[in-house]
Amino acid sequence: MADNVAIVSGAARGMGNSFAKRLATEGYKVLAFDLDKAVEKLKSVRGIVADVSKVGQVEAVVEEASKLGVIKVVVNNAGAWRKTPVDSSWDQALSDWDHIMDTNLKGVLMLSRASIPHMKAKGGNIINISSYYVLPAKSAGTNPADTDLYNASKWALNGFTDAWAKYLDQYGIKVNGMCMGAVDTPMLRGLYSDNKLPDEMAAVVMSTDDISQQLIDIIRSGRTGENFGAWVGEPISLGDQVPLHKRITG
Ligand SMILES: NC(=O)c1ccc[n+]([C@@H]2O[C@H](COP(=O)([O-])OP(=O)(O)OC[C@H]3O[C@@H](n4cnc5c(N)ncnc54)[C@H](O)[C@@H]3O)[C@@H](O)[C@H]2O)c1
Repeated sequence: MADNVAIVSGAARGMGNSFAKRLATEGYKVLAFDLDKAVEKLKSVRGIVADVSKVGQVEAVVEEASKLGVIKVVVNNAGAWRKTPVDSSWDQALSDWDHIMDTNLKGVLMLSRASIPHMKAKGGNIINISSYYVLPAKSAGTNPADTDLYNASKWALNGFTDAWAKYLDQYGIKVNGMCMGAVDTPMLRGLYSDNKLPDEMAAVVMSTDDISQQLIDIIRSGRTGENFGAWVGEPISLGDQVPLHKRITG
């Protein structure tokens, strides 16, 4: 493990912060980055300020990570959420598109594409952080009606996860999605007034530690091409391996 490197995007707070810390505990050298300078204060982690939606900055992140050792894990965690009602102004819609898709999709494409050449020789794991509602078999298959672009961005991650899992199998690179319900992070709290979770949500919300445990379980499992769900009020587990023809949709 001495020179195994993990890259985590969006690690200043929330789930990414927990992933970075947990991967460091597991013995990885972690390169964590975020728009927020708070990422530089992470202990036992190399934290740098970088924007996952900017190609030059992503290349610099991967270059920096490769100096630490062999890149084995990439966690595509950074995500942008905002309301995008379909009757907002034309200019607003186009600006929302760039903000959300550049972070949630182009960022995933760029960080993964820049890392894959470093991973081909020894294999590894790419984990795309998605959302529970892309698993319609076990969820209502929906998200609020006024977040169409966020919804679309998470559904689109399935395309990356599915194609990359198949193509990169020849190099021992596993690619999976994590599709969680509500997790107690600043993003979730931002949905409520005063950033306070309502009692009924506080009673069931999942912790970032629980989700980080699932990340480690996925890496250890050697499974690929699957979306792993995590639902509030239920134990978090990987569940049975999904048959090949049913992967991704859950
Ligand atoms: N919290 C939930 O309930 C929940 C549920 C399902 C999926 N998710 C997904 O999990 C991931 C993490 O969510 P979270 O709740 O921890 O969010 P969060 O907003 O609390 O943290 C996200 C972090 O990403 C960083 N970030 C945003 N844009 C960036 C960019 N362009 N470049 C670099 N860093 C950037 C932010 O600065 C922030 O530190 C996201 O992809 C989100 O969509 C969250």
